[in-house]
Amino acid sequence: MAAATEMVAVVAMARNRVIGDGSGLIWHLPADLKRVRTLTMGCPLIMGRKTWESIGRPLPGRASIVMTRDDSWAAEGAVRAADLDTAIARAHDWIAATSEARNEIVLFGGGQIYAAGLALTNRIEATVIDIAPDGGPQAALFPDLNMADWTRDILEDVAADGDVPAHRYERLTRKAAVRV
Ligand SMILES: NC(=O)c1ccc[n+]([C@@H]2O[C@H](COP(=O)([O-])OP(=O)(O)OC[C@H]3O[C@@H](n4cnc5c(N)ncnc54)[C@H](OP(=O)(O)O)[C@@H]3O)[C@@H](O)[C@H]2O)c1
Repeated sequence: MAAATEMVAVVAMARNRVIGDGSGLIWHLPADLKRVRTLTMGCPLIMGRKTWESIGRPLPGRASIVMTRDDSWAAEGAVRAADLDTAIARAHDWIAATSEARNEIVLFGGGQIYAAGLALTNRIEATVIDIAPDGGPQAALFPDLNMADWTRDILEDVAADGDVPAHRYERLTRKAAVRV
């Protein structure tokens, strides 16, 4: 039998949990984009249709599994999924069919998809940015966590540098492990 698969949410959020304005990110952290690339390479990514549109293309070395309720939606390089169970099934299919795949499914956002998948997420790799932006009328947020359910490790604190605000890399691991 195949080893159980872990679902990992990868997110950058402000300290007020804002993750974007609904159509894109509201900060520019080049080092964090590199970190996200490393964390996600070789994994299927489950994302919402709005996040797909904000990226605008499939990310190389990863599968883009896009959740939408629109049956007629299609985009080159994306795999459509009508619900979370289907998205997870498509992610397993991709891992099984891809020799360089890691046995890890990435919950890639945005706010609606983090909320939909949180209960099945075993680990969160978070970049917490020391700002509290408004995010505007369409602001997307990372769900509020019950910290009693999670163990938190602070991996690194990064001081502010010019335009780049201070930020911290955190790993949250679910105390009662869950696999998908
Ligand atoms: N900072 C970060 O780490 C990070 C990561 C990712 C995204 N973001 C930001 O987050 C924002 C987007 O987040 P968002 O919450 O507005 O949108 P989203 O989660 O990316 O996408 C929402 C869409 O996903 C589909 N969807 C949602 N739940 C579904 C379900 N249960 N079953 C099937 N389809 C479902 C719907 O598509 P249809 O309307 O087509 O049915 C919905 O409109 C952007 O600003 C983006 O830049 C930030």
